[in-house]
Amino acid sequence: MVDKLRVLITRQQIAAKVAELGARITADFPGEPVLLIGVLKGAAVFLADLARQIQLDVSFDFIAVSSYGNAKQQSGEVRLVKDVDSVEGKNIILVEDILDTGLTLTYIRNLLQAHRPKALKIAALLDKASRRTEPVCADYVGFQIPDEFVVGYGLDFAEHYRNLPDICVLESDSSTA
Ligand code: IMP
Ligand code: MG
Repeated sequence: MVDKLRVLITRQQIAAKVAELGARITADFPGEPVLLIGVLKGAAVFLADLARQIQLDVSFDFIAVSSYGNAKQQSGEVRLVKDVDSVEGKNIILVEDILDTGLTLTYIRNLLQAHRPKALKIAALLDKASRRTEPVCADYVGFQIPDEFVVGYGLDFAEHYRNLPDICVLESDSSTA
């Protein structure tokens, strides 16, 4: 079985969209500091680019939760693997690569909300709205995508393909040996 990759969103489209999201965040928090919290590992690439498009006092932190592992399906269980430093009284933007069922962001959002941030917004580069099982939506969304498994620009399949500059659909071609 050979993995086939089809480009869905080009690096130029991503760059333009990330600049647009950065400008919106800049306008939404005039003169205030913001703390970007990236969900490891997938959001690392998006966070690095987004941070450089925000014209404010920006700091970073990262949170890690249990993930899909090697499967393409969400297990249904989310577990905290790495917590963040204090969020109390801060403007938080939770940065995620993709909003799928919504289980991950619901869990993290509730966890952070309990520590009383001043504001808590969600930025998701990709949104597979048709897959949602939890009532969560992002404040800043890059692209709505169909229900296809994507890799690249931080997103992986079994830890592979995170370094692809474009976002690609991963198609398993079982017709070729
Ligand atoms: P959710 O909890 O179902 O919303 O899943 C969110 C997480 O699942 C993301 O942070 C990704 O790590 C992973 N995920 C969901 N869809 C994809 C995909 O198409 N490609 C790669 N990872 C995905
Ligand atoms: Mg992820």
